[in-house]
Formats: sequence, structure tokens, C-alpha cells
Amino acid sequence: MTDLSDLRHDNDGQPLTIENTLESPWDQLRLWVQEAKTKNYFQPNAMSLATVSSDGKPSCRIVLLKSFSPDGIIFYTHYLSRKGQEILNNPNAALLLYWDTLERQVRIEGKITKTTADISDQYFQSRPRNSQIGAAISPQSQVISSRDYLEKSYLNLNTLAQNQAIPRPEDWGGYCLTPTYFEFWQGRASRLHDRVVYQKDLSQVNSNKVNSNKVHLNNWEKLLLAP
Ligand SMILES: Cc1cc2nc3c(=O)[nH]c(=O)nc-3n(C[C@H](O)[C@H](O)[C@H](O)COP(=O)(O)O)c2cc1C
Repeated sequence: MTDLSDLRHDNDGQPLTIENTLESPWDQLRLWVQEAKTKNYFQPNAMSLATVSSDGKPSCRIVLLKSFSPDGIIFYTHYLSRKGQEILNNPNAALLLYWDTLERQVRIEGKITKTTADISDQYFQSRPRNSQIGAAISPQSQVISSRDYLEKSYLNLNTLAQNQAIPRPEDWGGYCLTPTYFEFWQGRASRLHDRVVYQKDLSQVNSNKVNSNKVHLNNWEKLLLAP
């Protein structure tokens, strides 16, 4: 048995309350991401993405959060990968960000759609050439015969496309998760952690259509959860 039960950490974060969290979960997320960026995390934008298979089995993996706005949270991947297949069958998904020294996690839930081809093209073209080639030759999540297969495919495309731009593969691009739920968790002393939830208040969506300039800010209700 590998026993990790003596690994303990006493949290001592600052209070997180309904009152001191920002009105919009997007502003709160931006604030926490900015604070995480000031710490020495190697990849503060690494997040876990959970999806579900057509027979209801969950799976998760890390992807990189590349941008967000009130339209959603964007990451990039292969559309034919396992996650891509699962999203095709069931667009419901969950994201998780965790910054350990800040004693903070953010849970986000919602539905995923593909970004436009323009957004995917723009991001693909911004990537270093070696990452573009790597993405173009890798049949993500498929069984391969050997590592040699990957390295040869990489060299082949690199030679073939010498002095040419690498086009974005049709099956590689962005996904956008549109949240209906955010939870901000702050570690506190004595295990009395703070959990502030922003939940999409669907009852307000219709009334906000009339008052459309308030849609993004005012249709979230905030709640406190027991730790
Ligand atoms: C730090 C880190 C960042 C990653 N970022 C991405 C990413 O942005 N996009 C991606 O497709 N895979 C990324 N991966 C690889 C995925 O975790 C995963 O192995 C891959 O997407 C295949 O997952 P799937 O078979 O469930 O589709 C990353 C892995 C790590 C550890």
C-alpha cells in the first residue's frame, strides 16, 4: 500500500464572500487568473477538462486555457480525439483550474461548441512551426505502431513543406465552453473553506432579452456552499 494519509496542509487563505467577490464571474475569473500569473506557476492556465462518453463514462485530461470572454472559455485540440468524440456525442463538460500555493480552485460547467474556423486559423498560425507540424501529423488519441511513426511523419512534413506555411488541419481547432456554473473555492483555516458559486439564473434570461445590455452581468445568482 502506498499511504499518503500523513500528507497534510493547513490552509490559511483570505476570506472569499458573496460581498467581496466581483459581480460578474468573468471578472472574478480574470482577477484570479491574473493573480495566478504573478506567482511562479509553470502553466497557470493548465486546466482539467472532463467530458462524458455516450454510455455515461467520464474522462478527464489537462488542456490549456487560451482565452476567455463572456462568450466562453477557449482551448484548442484535435476534433477527432477521444475528447472530441465525447463532446460530439454530449456537449456537457466541466473545467477545473487549481493553483496550490494560492489555495484556490475554480470549477466551471457548461456546454461546448466548436469555435469558428477563423478563430482556429488565427490561433494555429500564431503557434511555433514545430507545434504546427506536431499537431498536423499526430492522429491524437489513435493507437500508433511506434514513436518512430511520429518522428518520421514529422520529418516528412517538415521536408515537404519547407519554406511554406503549414495549413491548419481541418480536424484541429478551438472549442468554446459556455458556462452556466462557476465555483470559486478558497482554502481557509480549520477546513472551513469558502465556496462562492455563480449560477446562471435562467429565469432572468428572458427578461434580460428586453434589457439586453444587462445580459452578461445580471443573470448570475451568487450562492455560498458548505465546504
Ligand atoms: C500541461 C498540459 C497541457 C496540455 N494542453 C493540451 C491542449 O491544450 N490541447 C490538447 O489537445 N491536449 C493538451 N494536453 C494533452 C492532453 O492532456 C491529452 O493527453 C490529449 O489532449 C488527448 O486527450 P484525449 O485522448 O482525452 O482526447 C496537455 C497536457 C498537459 C499535461
